[in-house]
Amino acid sequence: MNADPAILYASHLAELQRRAGAALARGGFDHLVIPSGTVHYQWFDDRDYPYAVNPQFKAWLPLLRHPGSWLAYTPGAKPKLVYMQPRDYWHVVPEAPSGEWVPHFDIVIVHTPEEALQHLPRDVARCAILGEPQGAPAGYAPNNPPAVVAYLEYHRAFKTPYEIEMMRRATRVGTRAHRAAEAAFRAGASEFDIHIAYCAAARQDACELPYNNIIAINRHGAVLHYMDLGRTPPPQARSFLIDAGASHAGYACDITRTYSADRGDEFQALVDAVDRAQQAMCDQVRAGFDYRQLHLDAHLSLATILRDFGLVRVSPEAAVATGVSSAFFPHGVGHGIGLQVHEVAGFAASEDGGAIARPDGHPYLRLTRTLASGMVVTIEPGLYFIDMLLEPLRAGPQAGSIDWKRVDAFHPFGGIRIEDDVVCTEAAPMNLTREGFANA
Ligand code: GLY
Ligand code: MN
Ligand code: MN
Repeated sequence: MNADPAILYASHLAELQRRAGAALARGGFDHLVIPSGTVHYQWFDDRDYPYAVNPQFKAWLPLLRHPGSWLAYTPGAKPKLVYMQPRDYWHVVPEAPSGEWVPHFDIVIVHTPEEALQHLPRDVARCAILGEPQGAPAGYAPNNPPAVVAYLEYHRAFKTPYEIEMMRRATRVGTRAHRAAEAAFRAGASEFDIHIAYCAAARQDACELPYNNIIAINRHGAVLHYMDLGRTPPPQARSFLIDAGASHAGYACDITRTYSADRGDEFQALVDAVDRAQQAMCDQVRAGFDYRQLHLDAHLSLATILRDFGLVRVSPEAAVATGVSSAFFPHGVGHGIGLQVHEVAGFAASEDGGAIARPDGHPYLRLTRTLASGMVVTIEPGLYFIDMLLEPLRAGPQAGSIDWKRVDAFHPFGGIRIEDDVVCTEAAPMNLTREGFANA
């Protein structure tokens, strides 16, 4: 693949223009208008929340700190960027536009929100305006036409080569930071200090990361979205689960690894078994394969590990059928990823809208679509020892299918998750995360 960002970006933009033309035709509009978004303030306070750019805007432009700007596209014309550069001596204001995207836009620099509106298409009724209602100016309030949004969001699942390169770069940052975090854990750091080591190695702070880091020692690994960051190391650190990503040009990576403090113990053997199973799941990321089936197959595979490690006494099929596997693996096997860590339109039935339901009994699966070339998905199986889910099992009719002594032995380690970001291609899948770790 040609990795020259300027060339990749040019064809990415051409594809976005093609999609925008098709979406506007479906909705019966002439112009696509996308605000970058505005800054929001805390109620009863003058503090602002971290600004988050409109994902529809950052699909076109790697401008992540540019509130008040607008993109306007009319098929057949060069896209226009109304670029906000406020006159403000309190804050750093955006510098003059620069980057490989600049020659592709007609750029107008404006200094006030009112001035920006002068440069948008006059006939507002002919505009599909995609954005959030809060802070929208009168006259250009977003209408978010469902036909336009559905088309664009459905197609956003299919990444351009430019987008895959941006995700590869995000992954390079994330894997480097994961290595630093593992070293900090092995040196006896607290969760908070591991988090700081991660951010320092990534050169990204919490606002730049695509989601809040999950840095979990011991039992904290059993809290799926544990984000507390303990300030003191525990007396005995047994295990470490880290789910942490990084960003590049607005694109995310999402990576999880689990380690035992003692590389030779049974928990590490269980981690290694999940890791092997996870790699087999990654290999299922093939064009034409139903992601729902990938999730159901993951249950069977994890139930086999539970049986092999003596945690479950019944067959893997019985463990899945009776819901026992769901007590140990209570989330979805993954999701789409790209501009958002949980990419939109995971359930989209078609470019016209509609939804593909989750399989019965699997309420947390975030992706039900059939895989196709260009999709990027996470594959993140896990096994956890979660009291809230184990207690009803222990008290219920399935109690005999489980060896509770074995459960108690693994309980102090919390849980395991292994998560990679995988590109579906016309042939073998491309695992961005394994590639990143191999070069980190
Ligand atoms: N880091 C959130 C997730 O894995 O989905
Ligand atoms: Mn994920
Ligand atoms: Mn994750």
